[in-house]
Amino acid sequence: MKTHRPIKSSAPRIALIGCGAIAESYYLPAFASQPGILQNLILVDQNMERARKLAETFGIKQCLADYREVLGKVDGVVIALPTHLHHQISMEFLSQGVPVFCEKPLAESAGKAREMIEVSRKTGALLAVNYQQRLWSQFVKVKELIASQSLGESVSIKYYVGEVFNWPTVSGFYFNSTGSGRGVLLDRGAHVLDHICWWLGGMPKVTRSQNDSFGGGEAVAHVQFMYDKCVGDVKLSWLSSFPCKFVVEFEQGSVEGEIYYPQSILVKKGTGSQKRVKLKSETYMSLGYKMVSNFISVVAGNEKPLVSGSDVLDSIIFTDECYAAATRFEMPWYEIPEVKNDR
Ligand SMILES: NC(=O)c1ccc[n+]([C@@H]2O[C@H](COP(=O)([O-])OP(=O)(O)OC[C@H]3O[C@@H](n4cnc5c(N)ncnc54)[C@H](O)[C@@H]3O)[C@@H](O)[C@H]2O)c1
Repeated sequence: MKTHRPIKSSAPRIALIGCGAIAESYYLPAFASQPGILQNLILVDQNMERARKLAETFGIKQCLADYREVLGKVDGVVIALPTHLHHQISMEFLSQGVPVFCEKPLAESAGKAREMIEVSRKTGALLAVNYQQRLWSQFVKVKELIASQSLGESVSIKYYVGEVFNWPTVSGFYFNSTGSGRGVLLDRGAHVLDHICWWLGGMPKVTRSQNDSFGGGEAVAHVQFMYDKCVGDVKLSWLSSFPCKFVVEFEQGSVEGEIYYPQSILVKKGTGSQKRVKLKSETYMSLGYKMVSNFISVVAGNEKPLVSGSDVLDSIIFTDECYAAATRFEMPWYEIPEVKNDR
C-alpha cells in the first residue's frame, strides 16, 4: 500500500543511508553541487561517529543511527549500504512508496532483485540504480557499434579487470561472512556483466565459470559465455593488477578500450587500418553528478531513472548463473592473465 506523501519544501528531503566510502567520495560531493539539497539531507549510519564526522565536513544538520526513523519523513533515499542490506532496506522504503537510488550491485540474487522491481512497480516508487559506468563514453561507444552493426556482428568480447583491492571501505563488509559470501564477481563484476548484457541486448549463456573460492567470497573469477554468434571471456581479480580493458571483435574489425580511460578507443577495420577515436571526455565525478541530479529529478517526479532496477536485472540473473556453474580453479591457479595495453 502506498503511504508516502511527498513533503513540500524548496528542495526534496533525501536520506543518505550508509555513510561509508562511496557516500564520502561520491554522494556527498554530488549532493553539495545541487542547490539546497544538503540543507534537507539526513545522514543515516549505525556508526554515528562516522555520520557526524561527514555531517561536520559537509555542513549537514541531521544525523540518525536507525534508518527506520526516516520512514515517512523523506521524499527519497539513497541506499549506500553494504550489499547484503540493499534488498531488505530498499524494500521497506519502496513498499511505502518512497523512491530509492540503490548502489550496485542492486541485490545479491536475482530473486531479491525481482522483488525490489516488483514492489517498485506496485507502489509506483521508482527504483534507480547507480550503475553509472553505463554513462562512460567508451562503453556507450561499444553499445553504439554493436547496435549499428557498422563493423558487422560482434563475435567476441573480452573484458578484464584486475586491481588489488584498495577501496577505503569503512565497514570492511567486502570480506566478512555476512550476506551471500560472494566476492569479486558480485562486486566488480556488477558493472562488467551489466555492460555485457546491455551491449548484447540480452543475457548470455554461461559456458564456463571458475573461481578461487573455498567456500567464502572469491577474489579471482573467470567466466566464459556465448550469445548467438558471440563468445566472451571475463577475468576479474582483487588479488593482482593487470590492464583493465575490453576488446570486442566484430565480423569486420574490432574495438578496444580501457576501463578507466574514457577519452578514446582503438577501432581496427578488417582492411588492416586502425584509428584511435577520440570520445567525449567526462570525469567519474561529472557523471556522478549526472546520476545524482537525475535521482533528485526522479524524486521530484520530473524524470525517469537514467538506469533503473529492471535495466540491470539480466546482469543479476547472469551473475547468479555464473555462481551456479562455478567450479574451483585447478591447483595451482595463480596464473596471471596476459593482458597488454596498446595505448
Ligand atoms: N557504483 C560504484 O561504482 C560503487 C563503488 C564503490 C562502492 N559501491 C557500493 O556502495 C555500497 C557501499 O559501499 P562502501 O564501500 O561505501 O561501504 P563502506 O563499508 O565504506 O560503508 C558502509 C557504511 O554502511 C554503514 N552501515 C552498515 N550497516 C548499516 C545499517 N544497518 N544501518 C545504517 N548504516 C549501516 C556502515 O557503518 C558504514 O559506514 C556497496 O554496495 C558497494 O558495492 C558502488
